[in-house]
Amino acid sequence: MNEKKTSWWLVVGGGVLVGLLLVACLALALGLIGPTVGGGYRSNGEQIYFTATSQRGTPITSDTGMMGGGMTTCASCHGPDGRGGRVRMMMRTFEAPDIRYKTLTAEEHGEEGEGEMTHEPYTDETIKRAITEGVEPDGESLDWPMPRWTMSDEDLNDLLEFLKTLD
Ligand code: HEC
Repeated sequence: MNEKKTSWWLVVGGGVLVGLLLVACLALALGLIGPTVGGGYRSNGEQIYFTATSQRGTPITSDTGMMGGGMTTCASCHGPDGRGGRVRMMMRTFEAPDIRYKTLTAEEHGEEGEGEMTHEPYTDETIKRAITEGVEPDGESLDWPMPRWTMSDEDLNDLLEFLKTLD
């Protein structure tokens, strides 16, 4: 092995290492800063969806006693992206529907794939009613896995705004 070739490899290797270190530092810095800004959530609605707590400090509760009283949030059932899917909870399995705003308010239903329910298109008002009273637009009751939620009007509006951002 000649001298020159070795040092060339050292330079390349060193460069790669420094690069990786920089990327790692950046990721760490972002990770540290992220959560301190608004709890890591871009909006109050997003925080409610993922944690069932409000940045306003107003209480959010549900009638989920039957779920074991654990931390059940919208995301636990409807998924981080709102698309729903199969959920296993309390030794039971059920399908949670797609609750992205665009799906709920769409005219056409039950064609785009699984996880969609057949009902008339939702409006802002009927979506809020589904969340708080557990009824579909036509007044029909939603099945048991869907909790009935109690939260302030402001929090409910924030949550609705968040559902509108899902796509
Ligand atoms: C424990 C599981 C669970 C949690 C937690 C939950 N949901 Fe649901 N949700 C369901 C299920 C299951 C249905 C469908 C019920 C049915 O088939 O009648 C549903 C239905 C809905 C519907 C009506 C969908 C449609 O197509 O008619 C909306 C809107 C909704 N959920 C929003 C929410 C929001 C917002 C939250 C959080 C505040 C939430 N859900 C939390 C399980 C859950």
